[in-house]
Amino acid sequence: MPAEPLIVLEGVNKHFGQLHVLKDIDLTVARGEVVVVIGPSGSGKSTLCRAINRLEPVQSGTITVDGSPLPAEGRALARLRADVGMVFQSFNLFAHRTVLDNVTLAPLKVRRRAKADAVRRGRELLDRVGLLAHADKLPAQLSGGQQQRVAIARALAMEPKAMLFDEPTSALDPEMINEVLEVMQQLAEEGMTMVVVTHEMGFARSAADRVVFMADGRIVEDRVPEEFFTDPRSDRARDFLSKILHH
Ligand SMILES: Nc1ncnc2c1ncn2[C@@H]1O[C@H](COP(=O)(O)OP(=O)(O)OP(=O)(O)O)[C@@H](O)[C@H]1O
Ligand SMILES: [Mg+2]
Repeated sequence: MPAEPLIVLEGVNKHFGQLHVLKDIDLTVARGEVVVVIGPSGSGKSTLCRAINRLEPVQSGTITVDGSPLPAEGRALARLRADVGMVFQSFNLFAHRTVLDNVTLAPLKVRRRAKADAVRRGRELLDRVGLLAHADKLPAQLSGGQQQRVAIARALAMEPKAMLFDEPTSALDPEMINEVLEVMQQLAEEGMTMVVVTHEMGFARSAADRVVFMADGRIVEDRVPEEFFTDPRSDRARDFLSKILHH
């Protein structure tokens, strides 16, 4: 049975003024698939994630999530945006709210969940990322790795159909990277559809179904990880891999 497409980009172009940052992007992510996006700085990886979530408008092409084209604005957009959870390099937690509040606020306000349900579900999610004991703390009382796991729990609380991660571990101290990658690995194993921008090649090898290599706003390679890492076809990818694998 062919995999059912969940996120589909067709002929997507994005300009910032004169700068053409996404060039004719065609990308399909099937339900349950994990796609790792890599590429040099400035190649358009973050813009791609932000376009999928409509944090950035695009000038041409179509982007659909679960069959619906992304609406330009309004309530329908808010709903669709909530279908795609996003986790950034900076955790952006609400500093003056507890960890549990951070996880329950959006379900209460956007999804209009009953308080008791949101709290129960929030506690389950905190348990899942190993942080239930920290539910009543403020974000600043947690380590960076713990805060990023709260950010993941917060995104999951909206029951997204897919999750986008934009370099979720690159602001973390080395000893905290694995605890975040483990949560992501587990999510991948549970069948979450994920698009992950990362320089963590171990994660790409172990969790990704496909690696998408971008350079200068284009998708240059779109391959299964083992093939990509052992036999990159393009000079750009070979050059990039030699830099990140031997630094
Ligand atoms: N808001 C903006 N206004 C103008 N130019 C932008 C804006 N955001 C990004 N750009 C430019 O678009 C290009 C792609 O940026 P993007 O952040 O998507 O790259 P990236 O692949 O995520 O890079 P990095 O690995 O450094 O995070 C870059 O040339 C960047 O300078
Ligand atoms: Mg980026």
